[in-house]
Amino acid sequence: MEQTYVMEYKAPSEVKDIDVVNTYELEMQAGEIVPQGGFDYISGGSGDEYTLKQNVDCFNQKGILPRVLADVENPDTHTSILGHDIKAPFIMAPIAAHGLAHQSKEAGTARGVSEFGTIMSISAYSGAKFEEIEKGLNGSPRWFQLYMSKDDEINKLIVDEAKADGATAIILTADATVSGNREKDIRNKFVYPFGMPIVSRYLTGSGEKMSLNNIYAQSKQKISPRDVTFLSEYSGLPIFVKGVQSAEDALLAIGAGAAGIWVSNHGGRQLDGSPGSFEALEDISKAVQGRVPIVFDSGIRRGEHIFKALASGADVVAIGRPALYGLALGGYKGVKSVFEYFEKDLKRVMQLAGTQTVEDIKQTELFDKK
Ligand code: GLV
Repeated sequence: MEQTYVMEYKAPSEVKDIDVVNTYELEMQAGEIVPQGGFDYISGGSGDEYTLKQNVDCFNQKGILPRVLADVENPDTHTSILGHDIKAPFIMAPIAAHGLAHQSKEAGTARGVSEFGTIMSISAYSGAKFEEIEKGLNGSPRWFQLYMSKDDEINKLIVDEAKADGATAIILTADATVSGNREKDIRNKFVYPFGMPIVSRYLTGSGEKMSLNNIYAQSKQKISPRDVTFLSEYSGLPIFVKGVQSAEDALLAIGAGAAGIWVSNHGGRQLDGSPGSFEALEDISKAVQGRVPIVFDSGIRRGEHIFKALASGADVVAIGRPALYGLALGGYKGVKSVFEYFEKDLKRVMQLAGTQTVEDIKQTELFDKK
């Protein structure tokens, strides 16, 4: 049964610019061309999908005041993070198995992200090898996202490879020690139709025909501040702890040597019933007090969302599913179109909110609608 499904998986392959009216429509359009198992895996959340939905809805708890007489023209979206100058305050989020969305896999995403001018996050669950992704990245900046092995010698090997590939930061995903209850994947008997060359060193197989549950089970469950210290000392690279949703965890991470906090609830794919990620951001930012940069993800679908996240303490946000829908619909050109959409949308919001620069957004006070 699983075998048949794997044999038949055929991701889209078209490469073209796409028109983006909004990213919700992209999801519907991608659903028409990506095979169902892959689409449900990408788009789905856990349990009742409360958190998945709340990630977007909770942005409405805060409002942006229009500002007039603000002396603003052609707002500037450039910013920098950890020494990288980027075209806009958003980067590519780490996502597994881009080959589910498009035959060009992570190389397609990497090319779109690099041609746009921002940072690519390479997932440990990438379906492409580092050297294949490099063809798309062409020397552009990349961070590496790690799912730890239970064996630290293997973690060292993977970190060594990521460093040799040019990663300038490690993102430690700490919120996925077991898989969330993804009912669509259970119903579809979803297994990855191809292997995952980077983490295959600690799996019993290549990743091909394996479920996410099985893969997570073979990764490290007992993650603690010691792992942050170990990765920081061993790699010499800045470590982001990803999956932080509380001030307590942010402080633990910083105490252990984290160089950045990644506020995320894994796109509503892990603990259902947890708050929308944006609801958690302000408290975390108050606790962090600017000591390390904050990356925010989970629920960004519009320029307004980027604006609100930056005004609430994020330094940059990460774009996940919308980029993968762009990849499905148009390969690297589709990814670039999605990033350009976010840039244009953010500029419009900046203009109407009277903010000339990203720094101005960060100084903006949102109003409370609760
Ligand atoms: C993998 O990281 C997933 O959330 O599916």
